This record gives sequence, structure tokens and C-alpha cells, in this order.
Amino acid sequence: MLYGSVVALDHVSFQVQAGEILGLVGPNGAGKTTAMRILTTFLYPSAGTAKIDNLDILEHPLEVRKRIGYLPETAPLYLDMQVEEYLQFVAHARDVSGKNFSNRLHWVRDACGLKPVWKHPISEISKGFRQRVGLAQALIHDPKVLILDEPTSGLDPLQIIGIRDLIKSLAKKKTIIFSTHILQEVETIADRIVIINEGRIVSQGTLEALAQEVRIKGEGKPDLTLEDIFIALLTAKKEKSKEPIKTV
Ligand SMILES: Nc1ncnc2c1ncn2[C@@H]1O[C@H](COP(=O)(O)OP(=O)(O)OP(=O)(O)O)[C@@H](O)[C@H]1O
Ligand SMILES: [Mg+2]
Repeated sequence: MLYGSVVALDHVSFQVQAGEILGLVGPNGAGKTTAMRILTTFLYPSAGTAKIDNLDILEHPLEVRKRIGYLPETAPLYLDMQVEEYLQFVAHARDVSGKNFSNRLHWVRDACGLKPVWKHPISEISKGFRQRVGLAQALIHDPKVLILDEPTSGLDPLQIIGIRDLIKSLAKKKTIIFSTHILQEVETIADRIVIINEGRIVSQGTLEALAQEVRIKGEGKPDLTLEDIFIALLTAKKEKSKEPIKTV
């Protein structure tokens, strides 16, 4: 994926199985948001493609959009609306109707802890509550696939735990891709992890598989945390790139 001459993603390829939670981690500017914007059809890739629920994002973008709930880095909220009004609006736009309409509204209100601000204008609620409203709009139509860009950013510690538990409980029925800078979060929620840096996949797999890779490379610690793995894989790459260019 190119932004002008900036290569934001380069030969990035990964798969997520139904019911699986995939965690995307990587330093600032690694390409996580770009990957998510391509998957959600907000960005057109300069090369390559992707499939969601077996539908190609370039051939069937509308069908793909219907199947996805997306929480972008900055939630797309209408500040002049009340929380309830806004979510009703999104539910209508997402074709949620009949009995399902009030069921889904009540469900997201409770699941995302929105009761205290339900009748408040979005302009007047705090950052953490705005994030929860953003999550609620991603869930309102009960999508098969959830793509969450830093879903717990800006939340207080208790709410972070609440949202983590919510994500875990949703995973039984949904496929989830999420990004985060909190490595412990990926460790506890994700079934598989993709580590991305400078637009390329550094490594991917289960925590155990990543730990094994680092051990093979000679990091002796027996119980490697994702933080150890992250540092080992990213610094190994840096040191490699510092090696002098060999001349013949
Ligand atoms: N609209 C844009 N125009 C030009 N370059 C962009 C644009 N959006 C992102 N980039 C560049 O693409 C690269 C990947 O950015 P991206 O936002 O995908 O990273 P990220 O992994 O989500 O980072 P963060 O952890 O900071 O959210 C960076 O080099 C960034 O500067
Ligand atoms: Mg990002």
C-alpha cells in the first residue's frame, strides 16, 4: 500500500479463521490502521487484495461493509446528537429493524456500559464514553466480523477489563481483528498475533509459536512474555539493518 511515495504496507498477508481473535501489534506508524482501513474498504489498496467472509473487498465492497463492524482510531460520532439518538440513527442506517431494533439498542447500551450517558449529548461526554459509543456503533448490527482499531484506548482500567471481557465473549460468535499498544491485552485476548513493523510482518502466530521463534534465535529466557518477544523481534531487525553493506 502506497501513500504517494510512502510504502505503508509491503506484502502483508495474514488469515483469520471464523470465531478467532487476531491481535495486530506494532510500533507507531507500523501500518496497523492502514491494514484495517483496507479490510474495511475505506482505502483502496495500491496492489493486492483481501477477502472477508470469502468475499473479495475489491469485487464486493458493499457486501463486505454489511458484514463488518468497524471502530476506527477516531470514532465517527455526531457530536450534536444524544448517545441514544446517534445509535438509533446508526441502527436505521444499518437496516436494523422490527423487534431487533430495540433489542440491539438495549444490548449495546448494556454491553458497552452506556446507561449513565444514554440521554446525554455526545459533545458533553468524556473521551472514554465516546470510545464506548464508538464500540457500540460497531456492534449495533451484530456483524460477523469486527475490526477494532485500539478499542481500549482512552478507557479507565475497569472499563478496559470490561471491554476485554466483552471482546472475548463476542469471539465465540464473531471473527475479530483488533490493534493495540497494550501488549498484555493481546496476550490475554488474542488467539493469534501479527507483529508488524514498517509495513511488513515481522512475525505471526500464537504466543507460544512466537516465543518458540525467539528461543530458536537464542533468547534464553524460559517464560517469554509478549513484551520480551516484541523487543527481541524488533531489535533483532534493527540490528540486522545496522550491519554494514557487504561489498565484493
Ligand atoms: N493519509 C496518509 N497519507 C500519507 N501517509 C500516511 C497516511 N496515513 C498513514 N500514513 C503513513 O503510513 C504509515 C502507516 O501508518 P498507520 O497509521 O497505518 O500506522 P499504525 O500502525 O496504525 O500507527 P499507530 O500505532 O501510530 O496508530 C506511516 O508511515 C504513516 O505516516
Ligand atoms: Mg493506528
